[in-house]
Amino acid sequence: MRRGSIASLVGIGIVAGGVAAAVALAIPWLPVSASKEAGRIDFEFWFVITICIVIFAVVAAAILYSVVRFRVAPDDDSDGPPIHGHTGLEITWTLIPTVLVTAIGITSAIVLSRDDALAKNTMRIDVVAQQFTWTFRYPDAKGLTSATLMLPKGREVQLRFQSKDVIHAFFVPEFRENEDIVPGLTTTINVTPTRDGTYPVICNELCGLGHATMRSTAVVVEPAAFAKWVRSQSSAESSSSPGTAGAALFKNNGCGGCHTLSAAGASGKVGPDLDKLAAEAQQAKQPLDAFIRTSITDPNAYIQPGYPKNVMPATFGKALSKQQLDSLVSYLTTSSKGK
Ligand code: CUA
Repeated sequence: MRRGSIASLVGIGIVAGGVAAAVALAIPWLPVSASKEAGRIDFEFWFVITICIVIFAVVAAAILYSVVRFRVAPDDDSDGPPIHGHTGLEITWTLIPTVLVTAIGITSAIVLSRDDALAKNTMRIDVVAQQFTWTFRYPDAKGLTSATLMLPKGREVQLRFQSKDVIHAFFVPEFRENEDIVPGLTTTINVTPTRDGTYPVICNELCGLGHATMRSTAVVVEPAAFAKWVRSQSSAESSSSPGTAGAALFKNNGCGGCHTLSAAGASGKVGPDLDKLAAEAQQAKQPLDAFIRTSITDPNAYIQPGYPKNVMPATFGKALSKQQLDSLVSYLTTSSKGK
């Protein structure tokens, strides 16, 4: 090969690689990285992208150079010269991909095992997914429940997932991790938040009618603010005022994901409008109080016309204590009587 050919090949390669690198770097493809685990996954991402850019540059240089250099006259229909194998070339193009793919495999394994390693003071959070809401339970923080995933910055948490009905998937783009939630299995991921902020929690598996609305938020706060939140949250749920306790239970059990209730600022559209409970009880010919109670514990006993059966989970009767159920019923009765 002539020196001039090598120079043009290298030149084209540098330009093609530069264009690809500019596209990769100038456009913000990824949301901010908000956890230690996300940082490691981003490293793997850029490791693979770098390899891709180099391969792209080599291939683009070879193609563009050949198109120009070996161009034939438009009316030349003759065959090209016969080419037989080239052992040296074949070994090279087998060896290089082998090395690259092995390197990707090894670095991925290291990233995954580091992300799965548990720190000593890991806090456990039980995540319950159900159509179409998230509930986060904190066994290490007074056992409280929340509809928002509140996380202290800098501490590793282990999220343990369970589904009450169908397959869902937990995904917070800023944490980079996605985990399937399968009925009958407990799956886990670890998150060590590194950045204060509010991030979306998304259900990433088509799970039914309300899949698109099955969202919550992850809120990362300083450890002191987290401790304060734990104190206020647990006192609200066990408050002796049914208004305060009922409002907290409504919010923490994710009722607003499916129902509208203006007193709670909820605007869900999957289930019946709870601002119209009084009229709906009348339509069902039941006393308001009993109507609300049965609708929570045995949701399929009576279905509001226009709404499908088997959508409201039948699990709340067991999940709520007698006192919690009383508070919730009284809260819903009071707020709908005001209408
Ligand atoms: Cu749960 Cu989609």
